Amino acid sequence: MKIKSICCIGAGYVGGPTMSVIAQKNPQLKVTVVDINADRIAAWNCKDLAQLPIFEPGLDKVVGEARGQNLFFSTEVDKAIDEAEMIFISVNTPTKTYGAGKGMAADLQYVELCARQIAKVSKSDKIVVEKSTLPVKTAEAIKDILDNTGNGIHFEILSNPEFLAEGTAIQDLEAPDRVLIGGEPTETGQEAIEVLKNIYATWVPESQIITTNLWSSELSKLTANAFLAQRVSSINALTELCEKTGANITEVANAIGTDSRIGSKFLNASVGFGGSCFQKDILNLVYICKSLGLNQAADYWEQVVIMNNHQRTRFANQIVKALYGTVADKKIVFFGWAFKKNTNDTRESAAIYIADKLIEEHAQIQVYDPKVTALQMQSDLNYLNSRSEPENAKYLTTHSDPYDAVAGAHALAIITEWDEFKTYDWRKIYDNMSKPAFIFDGRNLLNRSALESIGFLYRGIGQ
Ligand SMILES: NC(=O)c1ccc[n+]([C@@H]2O[C@H](COP(=O)([O-])OP(=O)(O)OC[C@H]3O[C@@H](n4cnc5c(N)ncnc54)[C@H](O)[C@@H]3O)[C@@H](O)[C@H]2O)c1
Repeated sequence: MKIKSICCIGAGYVGGPTMSVIAQKNPQLKVTVVDINADRIAAWNCKDLAQLPIFEPGLDKVVGEARGQNLFFSTEVDKAIDEAEMIFISVNTPTKTYGAGKGMAADLQYVELCARQIAKVSKSDKIVVEKSTLPVKTAEAIKDILDNTGNGIHFEILSNPEFLAEGTAIQDLEAPDRVLIGGEPTETGQEAIEVLKNIYATWVPESQIITTNLWSSELSKLTANAFLAQRVSSINALTELCEKTGANITEVANAIGTDSRIGSKFLNASVGFGGSCFQKDILNLVYICKSLGLNQAADYWEQVVIMNNHQRTRFANQIVKALYGTVADKKIVFFGWAFKKNTNDTRESAAIYIADKLIEEHAQIQVYDPKVTALQMQSDLNYLNSRSEPENAKYLTTHSDPYDAVAGAHALAIITEWDEFKTYDWRKIYDNMSKPAFIFDGRNLLNRSALESIGFLYRGIGQ
């Protein structure tokens, strides 16, 4: 069975790019993406494709091709739900900041609101697809709400978690390793799976579309993120040992990564993972394990987050130690604020935590990032609530030119692996800085011996 119209609730980093690619690959399908955030929708509808609310390489081209043809962005949530045969829920599921499970469990209030709204508005049978990352068994709650508050129509629930990575979202959506669809083992459940499968099958080979039961699908997404984050923490856990023993983390990573059972991806030592997903999803997994009395499993996964926090703190401490034990009133420049290259997303970026620690020591932080706005950086720091907003503003300055940013700086920390950093005139950067000039490469991005030959006092993670 083929359908004609779908909608997606949530026009964020997942809903926007995912639906744009689905629309581009299925020109016969009407795709409407809705959000309660009117500014975000206005930005998605902006004529100038450089002003889209999300920066992702290639996204402008996809939106440019489909928008106004079969892809629409709107704030009319009820209308879109009413018209669609299939509704994706792609709203945020952050870590709870209050009540039971505070700091660990996923906050499902936005998902529940969506379910209630779908139930209230729908007048014909619908397939509801969980695109948001959700704790295992959430589909049960969604189904309860739909069946008990709806207008007596039939709802089928599918789980279709998204595996895209920010920074390569379009590439990942166009050539995914796999698409995962979970559904009920009933006849209608299997029919619903087929409907969604047909949408993906317009560009994804059928052998790469995996179908499972609902619970396996929900749990697989949490587990995939836990495994990826675990690799980052595992390699980072070795950086300190390298520093103490004279081993070199890049050489160790290369040596172990050539083993085909291990593989080379996600083995770069760094200031730690960031982004809206890894920490939140692992904490969620830990919470689920704890709620089921699985304390050993919970402790095992929690250690991945503990290690990540340690690495950020350690990086900040290294800077203070190298700058003769004090950074008070010293100018420390950050190259990069986004949590990774090729995105303007800063959620849970290591930069925020490292800046916070250094500001605690009264350092003056000066930041250059090619895509993140000054307003975003300030609001990231304010969100931590460590000090007042005016005080944060006093300690954090942003720059639009990297060479101006380093003028008179005592130290420079590379936080994000933006490609453009590798192309800079490092001699000029060195000349602009105060001497001795320190450089802390939090991603092992730059050529250590070239920097040292200019005169930098170089510190790379694990070297
Ligand atoms: N960002 C990623 O890389 C990524 C990857 C895979 C999965 N996920 C998961 O996808 C989900 C969405 O993540 P995101 O990064 O796109 O979040 P986001 O915060 O960028 O976007 C969510 C959007 O949903 C909107 N929203 C919330 N409640 C709404 C409602 N009731 N009606 C209409 N709109 C509403 C918000 O205004 C927001 O624009 C999360 O569960 C996340 O864990 C994210």
